[in-house]
Amino acid sequence: MIVPREPQTPASVADHYDELDPFYREIWGEHVHHGLWTTGRETPDQAVETLVARLAETMALEPGQHVCDIGCGYGATAEWLAKHYEVRVTGITLSSAQFLQAEERAARSPLLQFMRQDWLANTFEDDAFDHVFAIESSEHMPDKQRFFDEAYRTIRPGGRIAVCAWLARERAAPWEGRFLLEPICREGRLPGMGSATEYCAWAEKAGFTVDGIEDLSTKVRRTWALCAGRVAGKLLTEPRYRRYLLDARSRNRIFVLSLPRIWLAYATGSMIYGLLTAHKPLGPA
Ligand SMILES: C[S@@+](CC[C@H](N)C(=O)[O-])C[C@H]1O[C@@H](n2cnc3c(N)ncnc32)[C@H](O)[C@@H]1O
Repeated sequence: MIVPREPQTPASVADHYDELDPFYREIWGEHVHHGLWTTGRETPDQAVETLVARLAETMALEPGQHVCDIGCGYGATAEWLAKHYEVRVTGITLSSAQFLQAEERAARSPLLQFMRQDWLANTFEDDAFDHVFAIESSEHMPDKQRFFDEAYRTIRPGGRIAVCAWLARERAAPWEGRFLLEPICREGRLPGMGSATEYCAWAEKAGFTVDGIEDLSTKVRRTWALCAGRVAGKLLTEPRYRRYLLDARSRNRIFVLSLPRIWLAYATGSMIYGLLTAHKPLGPA
């Protein structure tokens, strides 16, 4: 696993999303994750929903089921799933700013519930959910084994897990670690970036049967050119973006360096975007 040279804690992850909240909403929108371009003709808004739809397919959701969105951001994915699949979704986030926005969605739908809590110290009962999923949140967790152990504990037998994650190339070369992957972890508040093999091993050790891990890198990487373009546009036209970047008190301004770095990490194959799917076996009859 790639580990940043400065340790990243749940508090630093929460601070990242709280401090950058206005910028995230303006640059990324309500979905704080990659888009998926399957035809290449999707608009950015369609692409983020295509990613959610792909993830949803892997869980074979049925109306009335209860699903957990681990690291739910602003709750946009939870709302999309409730609307398209009529499932109940409980979403959790570390960020107060995200939680406040998500609460507004919950006020509009009885199918949605959001909580501000740490997945690694969650208060859910055993077998609480039919399925759980995580879009780009496991990277932020220091103990990936516990991430999967908690998923296994809280999913009912026969339920599924789907995880979209930023992954490091298997056996990344020292230069990839030094110039791309370690800085990406540090700048983006990731306590560790695992490889596909490591993710499968953690899931299996937790008790899951892994159904597959799909490499979606070439279909998602356009996200970063789009984001870099949007940030450059805002820097040119909006003084508060320049003020934030030039202010030494801005704790998370370093993240801007990751925009070209992530683009390059995809171009070189150093970073991979994976969709892992697995299920909790039914156990002996
Ligand atoms: C890149 S954002 C993705 C948000 C959302 N999944 C989406 O796709 O829009 C990462 C999310 O993971 C959440 N997160 C990170 N570590 C977490 C933890 N230990 N417990 C709960 N949420 C966590 C953050 O609060 C944030 O909401």
